[in-house]
Amino acid sequence: MEAFARRIKGDVFARLSRVIDPELGRSVTDLGMVTDILVEASPDGPDRIGGADRPVFDVTVYVELTIEGCPLTRTIAERIDAAVSSYSKAILRPHQEVSSMSRDKLTALVDQLKAERRANPFTKAGSRTRIFAIASGKGGVGKSSVAANLAATFAALGYDTAAIDADIYGFSLPGLFGVDSRPTNLNGMLMPVTAWGVKLISIGMFAGSERAILWRGPRLQRSLEQFLTDVWWGEPDVLVLDLAPGTGDMAISVAQALPNAELVVVTTPQPSASDVAVRSGLVALQVPMRVRGVVENMSWYDHRGERLHIFGEGGGRRVADQLSRDLDRPVPLLAQLPLDTALREAGEGGRPAVLDAEGGLADTPMAAAFEGLARNLMA
Ligand SMILES: Nc1ncnc2c1ncn2[C@@H]1O[C@H](COP(=O)(O)OP(=O)(O)OP(=O)(O)O)[C@@H](O)[C@H]1O
Ligand SMILES: [Mg+2]
Repeated sequence: MEAFARRIKGDVFARLSRVIDPELGRSVTDLGMVTDILVEASPDGPDRIGGADRPVFDVTVYVELTIEGCPLTRTIAERIDAAVSSYSKAILRPHQEVSSMSRDKLTALVDQLKAERRANPFTKAGSRTRIFAIASGKGGVGKSSVAANLAATFAALGYDTAAIDADIYGFSLPGLFGVDSRPTNLNGMLMPVTAWGVKLISIGMFAGSERAILWRGPRLQRSLEQFLTDVWWGEPDVLVLDLAPGTGDMAISVAQALPNAELVVVTTPQPSASDVAVRSGLVALQVPMRVRGVVENMSWYDHRGERLHIFGEGGGRRVADQLSRDLDRPVPLLAQLPLDTALREAGEGGRPAVLDAEGGLADTPMAAAFEGLARNLMA
């Protein structure tokens, strides 16, 4: 029995090495969260279930949490129990002894993670993250709506998706995703908040005093850098950035901090919007940044079987053609998105309109348009 218990201990450890901490994206054993495993033959003796005659053991996993009262504690505990109780060679009854990591151990862990992560994870050679920066010339054309719904679409399509609200003064992603919680602070390293499958960070998630610090003076330019380096991103497949309107400094900061970023210009169909939209794309002449394409938003409104072009027609095409000429490389019109009151209403309700209540892609023309855009972007 002793030998069998030892073998079970080894097997359980191996299984726990595949239990991933949902925030840090590493296994609980890698993170040093499992400090011991106690395997004891159960006083209840062999159990007969479905004719199988397997010995019964009580298995106690000693778990040290990185943060006490962390919102994902339950998830971690459930994953650990599931890993133990799904063992096939014996019946294992899972128990846990939970405590929190000592200050020193936590500091060492964070230092180790920071060192591995180096400064900005997205500039690492071989980083496979596709980065799309959503820009516009004018305000109010639907950049944030496009950024939020695009990120939600990527997540619903199964991509590991992150989003940064880079509109420091006019942040809107927390509202669009219905987030009112704050990022967990792990000794100076922030965990993004996950909502609708998307890992998010926004200055809107910070309290007034912290926000004021981020907003002050030179910190503003550094805020994007801070979001990139102080937040634990793991290695997402896609990162979507919602930029402030205009040809401002942020686009330049993005180009500097994220040389792989691809700019997506959002515009509306009226010709008068075109020139300023083109200017937002021409930032690519000043900084090395690829303009991936143009999205025309509010293209039409389907009303009782009739397609109404409320804001005119052709703006997206014009911007794409003009940018192709000025940048001397093809800049496609990637998508035309309809006007849909559901987009605004859902956004105000804290759920990106492309998603149904379960977080899957909704069966709507809007969701189909976003799926097309997402697939175009990844092509
Ligand atoms: N296709 C659409 N159909 C209906 N409403 C839309 C659509 N796109 C955007 N809106 C609405 O238009 C308003 C402005 O959109 P949004 O905030 O996304 O624009 P923005 O470009 O990010 O604005 P800002 O420049 O202020 O950051 C919002 O109320 C939004 O719900
Ligand atoms: Mg916005």
